[in-house]
Amino acid sequence: MATSTDSTNLNFVGENLISKRRTFAIIAHPDAGKTTLTEKLLLYGGAIHLAGQVRAKKDRRGTRSDWMKLEQERGISINTSVMQFSYGDYVLNLLDTPGHEDFSEDTYRTLMAVESAIMILDGARGVEPRTIKLFEICKERKIPIITFINKMDLPAKETFELLDNIENVLGITCVPFVLPMGSGTYFKGVYNIRENTLHRFEKTVAGAFRVPEKVSGLDDPELKDIMGERDYGRFIDDVSMAREMLPDFDLDLFHATEITPVLFGSAGTNFGIELLLNEFLKLAPPPQKVIADDGSTIAPTDGDFRAFVFKLQANMNKAHRDRVAFVRILSGVFERGMQVFVPRLEKNVKLSSPVSFFGQERSTIDHAYPGDVIGLINPRLYQIGDMLCTGDVIKYSPLPVFAPEAFASLILIDTSKSKAFRKGIEELSEEGVVQVFNSDQQSPIVGGIGQLQFDVFKFRLEDEYGASCRIEPLGFECSRWIKNDSDINKFSRFDKIVKDIFNNNVVLFETRYRMESFTGDHPEVELLHHPPK
Ligand code: G4P
Repeated sequence: MATSTDSTNLNFVGENLISKRRTFAIIAHPDAGKTTLTEKLLLYGGAIHLAGQVRAKKDRRGTRSDWMKLEQERGISINTSVMQFSYGDYVLNLLDTPGHEDFSEDTYRTLMAVESAIMILDGARGVEPRTIKLFEICKERKIPIITFINKMDLPAKETFELLDNIENVLGITCVPFVLPMGSGTYFKGVYNIRENTLHRFEKTVAGAFRVPEKVSGLDDPELKDIMGERDYGRFIDDVSMAREMLPDFDLDLFHATEITPVLFGSAGTNFGIELLLNEFLKLAPPPQKVIADDGSTIAPTDGDFRAFVFKLQANMNKAHRDRVAFVRILSGVFERGMQVFVPRLEKNVKLSSPVSFFGQERSTIDHAYPGDVIGLINPRLYQIGDMLCTGDVIKYSPLPVFAPEAFASLILIDTSKSKAFRKGIEELSEEGVVQVFNSDQQSPIVGGIGQLQFDVFKFRLEDEYGASCRIEPLGFECSRWIKNDSDINKFSRFDKIVKDIFNNNVVLFETRYRMESFTGDHPEVELLHHPPK
């Protein structure tokens, strides 16, 4: 979520409720260790008692419904789940973003509902493709990022190679808060540069809660012995290089996603997680005020209730054919049964069946506060981006449309179902499952961020509307809206011009290279990532 970094005016009765809340996501390329880190964070918060529960849930999910069957077949997590847990006197809302190869606009939208993110990298791999995409969204929305370099108990790249990799690929300045002492079998722990403490790694059975850490300083006489001459020399060089060359930490630059604190550790062996969690709680902003469309502010301390729908989830429970709207609270206190106004519908709605989440588990809630995510069960009522409010009606549009990167033609198999087919396309695109475009060809074109969106769309068209269809991939890999309609003649026959549902022209390019060379040849044509206003 685009946030203001002013956290000074949290001074009403509920200050503690707000200042002690953190709403965040973990962004990662698949396999970097997101599930493992989530599990360890939940263990610290006492939300689960045994390591392995998150994973166990992940594996079990497929048995719950047909919707889940799709997840199981693909071995992935389609749902963005939300987990609320406490740590000390903090309440943490962790919004999960699917890390599979195929991800969707839901992943992006979820990032609009958080105030910070933990970016987890595999120490042997550094920055990977999915990391880049998720990072770019965070950077664009100015979501502060804390970096955790994981799997240091396995052979990893050199410390400065990893820091350079982050800086060069992502263009963000690294400020290491801790440095690793070796890696793999030579991993001896981490050094907290700012507090001059060494946290020695002692391997325990994986998953042990609160790994024993022996804490000492850089002058620890045992250090050279444990590390060995060569690693010790390298480590001392790293420390002095970090001290001399790396910038000081600056909170404003962190809030502007210009710099990232970097910590090292091993989620698998539960080492360095407590350091990460403590730094995270110190640095990550609590719920922030946001700027409404008319320039006014919505502050978490405002008395009026304001919230927005960032995700719709259908068929979580097929027996009830229900649909859950995931709602992020911006201000005010939510109370079960309260009446809110939904400006798009121009009507009041009673919020009578709110649920909170813990992964796939739900329970009914009575109260929720700014920063929290609640689920509202109400078929077809809400749309993504809907505002729910009490008091003065205010417009806030936090959810941008993302330029699709995958496209396909949608072909109805049984033409007698064309009415249901059209209805399904309309309703599912309204729900944000895919974006729909029309062109000179008869079949509609669907666009999304990844193939997963098409699979979900096809599944739901068949399952809910009885309209079986074929999805034929189209060979375009990026798209842009055009600022000025008169420019469309400049595009060549390789680029396809289609219309979005608001009749705006959108150009589909076969390759990113083709788009870049078009921009070079025609600097006067303005290509937009989002529909023209
Ligand atoms: P993801 O959600 O980002 O996709 O990653 P996940 O946590 O599932 O971790 C991917 C693999 O990496 C898992 O192994 C996990 O155990 C391992 N892993 C995560 N953190 C660490 C770490 O700090 N050190 C080491 N050595 N391994 C780590 P797997 O074999 O795929 O699964 P499992 O059999 O361990 O469950």
